[in-house]
Amino acid sequence: MAKTRTFYQCQSCGYTSAKWLGKCPDCGSWNSFVEEKAVTGGRSSLRQPLSKTAPVSLQAIEGISEQRTSTGIGEFDRVLGGGVVAGSVILVGGDPGIGKSTLLLQAFSGLSGRTGKLLYVSGEESPQQIKMRADRLSVNAENIILLPETSLEGILDAAGKMSPDAMVIDSIQTVYTQELMSAPGSVGQVRECAAKLMLHAKRSHIPVFIVGHVTKEGTIAGPRVLEHIVDTVLYFEGDRGHSYRVLRTMKNRFGSTNEIGIFEMSDAGLREVNNPSELFLSERPQNVSGSTVVACIEGTRPLMVEIQALVSQTNFGMPRRTSIGVDFNRVNLLIAVLEKRAGLHLGGMDIFINIVGGLKIIEPAVDLGIIATIASSAREKPVEPKTCVFGEIGLSGEIRAVAQAEARLKEAAKIGFRRAVLPAGNAEKIRGNQGIEVIGVRNCEDFLNAVLL
Ligand code: TYD
Ligand code: MG
Repeated sequence: MAKTRTFYQCQSCGYTSAKWLGKCPDCGSWNSFVEEKAVTGGRSSLRQPLSKTAPVSLQAIEGISEQRTSTGIGEFDRVLGGGVVAGSVILVGGDPGIGKSTLLLQAFSGLSGRTGKLLYVSGEESPQQIKMRADRLSVNAENIILLPETSLEGILDAAGKMSPDAMVIDSIQTVYTQELMSAPGSVGQVRECAAKLMLHAKRSHIPVFIVGHVTKEGTIAGPRVLEHIVDTVLYFEGDRGHSYRVLRTMKNRFGSTNEIGIFEMSDAGLREVNNPSELFLSERPQNVSGSTVVACIEGTRPLMVEIQALVSQTNFGMPRRTSIGVDFNRVNLLIAVLEKRAGLHLGGMDIFINIVGGLKIIEPAVDLGIIATIASSAREKPVEPKTCVFGEIGLSGEIRAVAQAEARLKEAAKIGFRRAVLPAGNAEKIRGNQGIEVIGVRNCEDFLNAVLL
């Protein structure tokens, strides 16, 4: 085989060098050099065209409905946009030990009855280890073939001979191609291997799942470098301390993003959680200050989550502000709104905010929940336990309408809430009885009067 020439390129400015350098002499950035394949003598897989194609008019293309196969795990299918699409490459990223291998083995178990052979390539665990886990998970192992291999050429060769109906690469950090000299897991290797796997998926029209570990910083050869290559990016998140795991879509060419699937890690593997709101509220304290339930929307699904706050006199000159699960800057902004518009004196107070269950909420509808929780803790007044809230707040204390109010109300009513305090702009538009008392508010002051006991 002809030896491939490689060079090192700065990822910030494009400066190239024959040797690896710690600091780019051109733009001065540190640790930005990545091994790349030389274009002469052979093309990078990324640039290789799939076939010689002529331009076609959009109108002339006949639509084909994409084939989707269910994995047998409802939450996983939902996140994928309704099942696995043939020919797609799905990256499953997450911290080591979060349950990526478990999830994919369970998905293969579900696929096993529906498709032909499935190839599980593991560079991390021996077939015996996988067998032990499969037994614990009671996997339907009928069609699952294990391949302990880390050379990409070996993997593609085996896949070519076997022509499986789906493939898992666990994990991309252990796979290497002989064309690059750098160690497995380096950015160049990860990107080149992923590009070749992508090509294989498109050519043989099978789904390929790629497992990628995220390092703490999310930088060094993290799956981030793959995000633009693959079709779907899923992140498996969760606290080690909690048993819930959230599978989140970051990118999906075959479905909506921001969809989440919720699982619980048990001794028999991952279990789907069909009623997450109940799970997240199961240990909620009643009639205690500093706890509010917000009706959020995650993707297409309404979710009731509890927000807690602790406001206490600071012991140091500089008050501490901490937020877990919501944006820190947003919390600071809301504290300023409370000071100015509701007359709360929070300047000498430490404030801690936490979303229960290790969830992360980014939508603005969570504002009213944060406001209510902080005010509740600061004034030592509990929020009425059967009341939930949602809505956005502006800097002048005005309460702004948010999307999908009816879906939120339905979920709240289902869980057993009796009152919902929401933006007047939303309340006016609600038609019919939602099975819950609806209270519309226009400003911060009215809002706090409506929710605090
Ligand atoms: P794993 O799928 O190996 O994680 P990853 O592939 O993301 O590194 O899962 C590892 C964790 O899951 C491990 O800490 C043990 C736990 N686990 C259970 O609690 N129950 C189970 O049935 C299985 C298979 C794993
Ligand atoms: Mg694993």
